[in-house]
Amino acid sequence: MIVLGIETSCDETGVALYDSDAGLLAHALFSQVEIHAEYGGVVPEIASRDHVRKLLPLINQCLKNVGLTRTDIDAVAYTAGPGLIGALLVGTATGQSIAMGLGVPALAVNHMEGHLLAPMLETDHPVLPFVALLVSGGHSMLVEVRAIGEYKILGETLDDSAGEAFDKTAKLLGLGYPGGPALAKLAEKGDPERFAFPRPMTDRPGLDFSFSGLKTHTRNLWLNIDQDDQTRADIAAGFQQAVVDTMLIKCRRAMQHTRAQQLVVAGGVGANLSLRQTLQQAGKKYGWKVSYPRLEFCTDNGAMIAFAGCQRLLAGQQTGPVLKAYARWPLDQLPPLAATGT
Ligand code: KG4
Ligand code: ZN
Repeated sequence: MIVLGIETSCDETGVALYDSDAGLLAHALFSQVEIHAEYGGVVPEIASRDHVRKLLPLINQCLKNVGLTRTDIDAVAYTAGPGLIGALLVGTATGQSIAMGLGVPALAVNHMEGHLLAPMLETDHPVLPFVALLVSGGHSMLVEVRAIGEYKILGETLDDSAGEAFDKTAKLLGLGYPGGPALAKLAEKGDPERFAFPRPMTDRPGLDFSFSGLKTHTRNLWLNIDQDDQTRADIAAGFQQAVVDTMLIKCRRAMQHTRAQQLVVAGGVGANLSLRQTLQQAGKKYGWKVSYPRLEFCTDNGAMIAFAGCQRLLAGQQTGPVLKAYARWPLDQLPPLAATGT
């Protein structure tokens, strides 16, 4: 089965073709980062309009790259939430229309399930059951994954997501948008030990996250010090180290709690090299296997949507001809894989 995957939940137009037998055939992405950069963040209306411009050309490009035509598509999977509603509706309307025109099934995919399953696209993929640390711009959570579609949320952020904490701190330090990758790059030049940073929520039991205290601490530090370049880098490094340490502590607790042997790290912040290295080392020390998607599949992409959609389509699920998108769509409300109809 060849599945066309469509991702338009935020500021990236992603498209992919996934074959249930041969694996990923093609994927293409257009990032709107430069368009939104001058506003210092994503402007929803501009995002929607640009998805309209880029989506069909990207689909045509993907098909052309692998010598396929539209009639080779057996099903269409599109992100229907969570995300920006206008942006989601572009992918939803396009996905439903293509499926209807071709007379093939359509399936609404949950964006977070896409992130969660992205490591499955790799040859050395994780084995179920596992614990997933899902850290993106919109969400931070630890999820116990017993099977595809069987998700138990072990802990979530009580305020900002990890991505937001990175982005807001980067903005404070004058690094612009998108902040996460810029802050991570600057942190490489900094000394994480120069200033003391709190490790939020680690002295309390439980698996929830909170980054607002760390953000405030960083703000107070930066606004009350001589703001030279080395200090900026040292603060970036100290902040990043505090986020990474906090996640390590929470992951370790989640692994102990579930007795899982496999940890999966996914979502945009999963592209952070310091986080990847730290969890990799922890895996060696504590005997867990740690899996990540390749860097380009940590952030938003069409491949993860095509893959997640394909699993549900193979199980017989499909979405009727409705144009429904969801700004919020909790992961633990998804039907198990064996259930039909969404
Ligand atoms: O998963 P994603 O592409 O979009 C959402 O679904 O939200 O995640 C985007 C987030 C942004 O907050 C971005 O700053 C962060 O991931 N991010 C990073 C890195 N690369 C992306 N944060 C820290 N270090 C990175 N290398
Ligand atoms: Zn995402």
